[in-house]
Amino acid sequence: MGSAFIILGTSVLAVLLAGYWAQRYLPPPKPKIVGIDLGTTYSCIGVYHAVSGAVDILQVQSGKKCIPSVVAFSEEGVVVGFKAVAQAEHNPQNTLYDAKRFIGKVYRKEELQQAQKQYPFKLEADELGMVHYVVTVNGTEKKITPHDVGSIILDTLRLAAEANLSAPVSKAILSVPAEFDAMQRNYTIKAAALAGLEVFRVINEPTAAALAYGLHKKSTLQTILVVDLGGGTLDVSLLNVQGGMFLTQAMAGNNRLGGQDFNQRLLLFLKDAIEKTYGQKLTDKEDLQALRLQVEQAKLDLTYKQTVNIVITLHSLGNKVFKEAIPRTLFEKLNDDLFNKVLEPIDRVLQAVQLTREEVDEIVLVGGSTRIPKVRELIRDYFRKQPNTAIDPELAVATGVSIQAGIIGGMWPLTVSAVELPTRVKKIQIH
Ligand SMILES: *[C@@H]1O[C@H](CO)[C@@H](O)[C@H](O)[C@H]1NC(C)=O
Ligand SMILES: *[C@@H]1O[C@H](CO)[C@@H](O)[C@H](O)[C@H]1NC(C)=O
Ligand SMILES: *[C@@H]1O[C@H](CO)[C@@H](O)[C@H](O)[C@H]1NC(C)=O
Repeated sequence: MGSAFIILGTSVLAVLLAGYWAQRYLPPPKPKIVGIDLGTTYSCIGVYHAVSGAVDILQVQSGKKCIPSVVAFSEEGVVVGFKAVAQAEHNPQNTLYDAKRFIGKVYRKEELQQAQKQYPFKLEADELGMVHYVVTVNGTEKKITPHDVGSIILDTLRLAAEANLSAPVSKAILSVPAEFDAMQRNYTIKAAALAGLEVFRVINEPTAAALAYGLHKKSTLQTILVVDLGGGTLDVSLLNVQGGMFLTQAMAGNNRLGGQDFNQRLLLFLKDAIEKTYGQKLTDKEDLQALRLQVEQAKLDLTYKQTVNIVITLHSLGNKVFKEAIPRTLFEKLNDDLFNKVLEPIDRVLQAVQLTREEVDEIVLVGGSTRIPKVRELIRDYFRKQPNTAIDPELAVATGVSIQAGIIGGMWPLTVSAVELPTRVKKIQIH
C-alpha cells in the first residue's frame, strides 16, 4: 500500500517536472493565426508570439515590412508591391491600386465616371454597379475584380509569412475600415478565401489601433479617439471600451486630406521659386518627377530636422542646379490651413456624442502623416494631453490585428479578450 503511494507520488512529480521543463525549455508554439492590415496604400502581416508576448510585423519584400497595395499585369506575368510600383511608369493602364476603394461597393454611373477621371487604368461596372478593372495583357482584355487584386496582395503576404515561420499559414484576422458595411466585409473575406486564408474575424481598424496600445486591458470605461491620417484620407473614430468590449460611438472623416496634399503645397512653392529664379516654367515630366521625389523626402526629413535642402539638377533648364533651404516653419506655413482641417472631424465626433475634449481618456495616432510634428502639436494642444505615439503609426493597425490573432489563437499569456459590439453609427463626411 505504502509503496504504491510512493510510486504514484513519484509519477505525479515526474509529470509536474516534465510540464515545468517543457514550459521553460521547449520552443514556444508557433503562431497559429496571422493578423493582416490590408490597407488602401500599404499592406502588412504580423504574428503574436506566445510566451514573449511580442508582435512581429514580418518582412515581405526586399527587407520591407509593408508592401504597396499595388498589383500589375504585364507581359512577364503578375507583379505585386514594390515590384509593381517599379514598373508602373511604363505600364500605367495595367497597374492597379486603390482596390479597397472599390471592393464590395456599388457605384452609380456618375460616381464611376467621376472616379475614372482620377485613374490611369480602365474601370467598368456590371449591371449591379459592382466595379472591376479592365487590363490588356498579351493582346487580350481581361476583367479583374477588386477582390482579385486583394487576393493577390493577400497571397503575397501569406507566402512571406510561410517563409518567415517555416510553417503553413491558412488562418487570419483581418482589419477593415470601421465604416465598411456587410458587403464590403464579405468581399474582403472572399479575397482572403481566394488567397487560401480562412478569416476567423474581421475587426475595425480603430479598434486594432487601440488594441496595439493595450487599451482593451483597462478595467474602467475608457473613451478613445483614434485619428488616422494617411496619404490621402483622414478618419477619426470615437470608441468606448470596457472589459474588452469595444463600441464605436461616432466616425467622421475627410477623404480629400492627407500627405499628398501637404506635398502638393511644397511642390507648388518650389515650382514658383524655380520660375522666379530662371524666368521659365518647369514643365518637363522627368524634372517634375524628380522634384516630386525630393519633396516627399523633404517632408519625411522635416519630421526630425529643422531645415532641409532641396538640391536638384534641372535637365530641361540647361542642367542648372537649383538649391533651396526649406525650414520646417515654412513647410508649416504653407500647410497651415490644411493642418488645421485635421481638427474638424475631431470636433464633429465630439459634437455627435456630446462630449467635451476633457472627457476623452486616450488619443491614438495612426497613419504616416501623424508623424508630422505640427499635426501632433495641434492634437496635443486641442486635448491638452499627449497622444499615444509609441508605436510606429504605420504599423499600429497591423500590430493590433496581430494581437487579436494572438488572443483568438489562445496564445499564452494573453488573457484579456477583445470583442466589438455591432454599431449603427454613420460616418460624417467633411470636405
Ligand atoms: C521573420 O520576420 C522577423 C520580423 O521582420 C525577422 O526579425 C526575422 O528575422 C524573420 N525570420 C525569418 C526566418 O525570415
Ligand atoms: C503573357 O504571356 C507571357 C508569355 O506566354 C506569360 O509568361 C505571362 O504570364 C502573360 N502575362 C499575364 C499577365 O498573364
Ligand atoms: C455576407 O456573407 C454572409 C455569409 O456568406 C451572408 O449570409 C450575407 O448575406 C452576406 N451579406 C452581404 C451584405 O453580402
